[in-house]
Amino acid sequence: MLESRTQEYVEQRVRAGVLEQGTVDLLTESGVGARLHREGLVHHGIELRFNCAGHRIDFADLAGGKGITIYAQHEVLKDLAAARRAVGGALFYTAEAVSVHDVESAPTIRFEHGGKTETLECDFIAGCDGFHGICRGAIPANALCIHERVYPFGWLGILAEVAPASDELIYSYHQRGFALLSMRSPQISRLYLQCDPEEDIANWPDDRIWVELRTRFQTHDGWHLADGPIVQKGITPMRSFVAEPMRHGNLFLLGDAAHIVPPTGAKGLNLAVADVRVLTSGLVDFYKHGRRERLDRYSHTCLRRVWKVQRFSWWMTSMLHRFPNEDSFQHHLHLAELDYVTSSRAASQSLAENYVGLPFEDEAKK
Ligand code: PHB
Repeated sequence: MLESRTQEYVEQRVRAGVLEQGTVDLLTESGVGARLHREGLVHHGIELRFNCAGHRIDFADLAGGKGITIYAQHEVLKDLAAARRAVGGALFYTAEAVSVHDVESAPTIRFEHGGKTETLECDFIAGCDGFHGICRGAIPANALCIHERVYPFGWLGILAEVAPASDELIYSYHQRGFALLSMRSPQISRLYLQCDPEEDIANWPDDRIWVELRTRFQTHDGWHLADGPIVQKGITPMRSFVAEPMRHGNLFLLGDAAHIVPPTGAKGLNLAVADVRVLTSGLVDFYKHGRRERLDRYSHTCLRRVWKVQRFSWWMTSMLHRFPNEDSFQHHLHLAELDYVTSSRAASQSLAENYVGLPFEDEAKK
């Protein structure tokens, strides 16, 4: 395991926080679920808010009892690192991978560690090095097809030391733009506002953020959003991205190295974990039984899920955000779609089954 950052950075940087049932199950089966089960917050629904009223999507009823668990990505990383260390596995932090070679035969990774350039010889490379990593670039451009959409908005996200104003996540559509209430613990709220992707965070003093959040979450029944100290804030642009295929020779792309989803469906981390699941079963087949078929099918297997999750994330994003120059017709289409999704059992069930996580291919066949 080569990681360019320090262990402290990786274990403190706030990132995603919503785990699908399948992600929780995989972590549990892998023996790293103990703290997740103790500290994670299990949710069985979300709220969609529009026209100043909330509408609950009840996962327990609509998604066969499945739910989601709020547990921060950096806590998952702590648990994984501890498990790896416990079996004496190697973990290299502050190890910057600079190039990968011979991915079609016997791959190597050149990396810098402790002031020296080292070479790691591999059977396979799991390229989990994110959107800006070097692995995707190691695939010849003529072997790769890129599909992309950049959205004309971003999210201004804050972490605040205040108890979440709701037990469940709230996705709010408002004429001034989308807002999301999430959380990391019973004491820490995570909140987001749709903003211009070029917005300068310096234009957003804390007071302005709270006023805007209150406006976008306002209800007819006087729901109140309490504020608290903002301990972190930042702006994230939004895009959808898929690189196809996700494998070249013995190099596999996983997570953001291969695909980006806009965060509205809370799918990024879960989709990365789904890739890990497919690659792991391929590696087990290869090392235990000498069979390469699952590894050969890696890209095809992953991409079926990737595109379904891309569709869901794009759909949630389009439904809940204001696009530049929208007119009253477009505004009423957003409202009609939200009204439909929250009043038709078929439509809310479709949202629920995607939100808690589609079944994995091996489960779907059962
Ligand atoms: C988060 O808590 O960071 C979060 C939750 C739900 C989303 C996106 C982000 O859809």
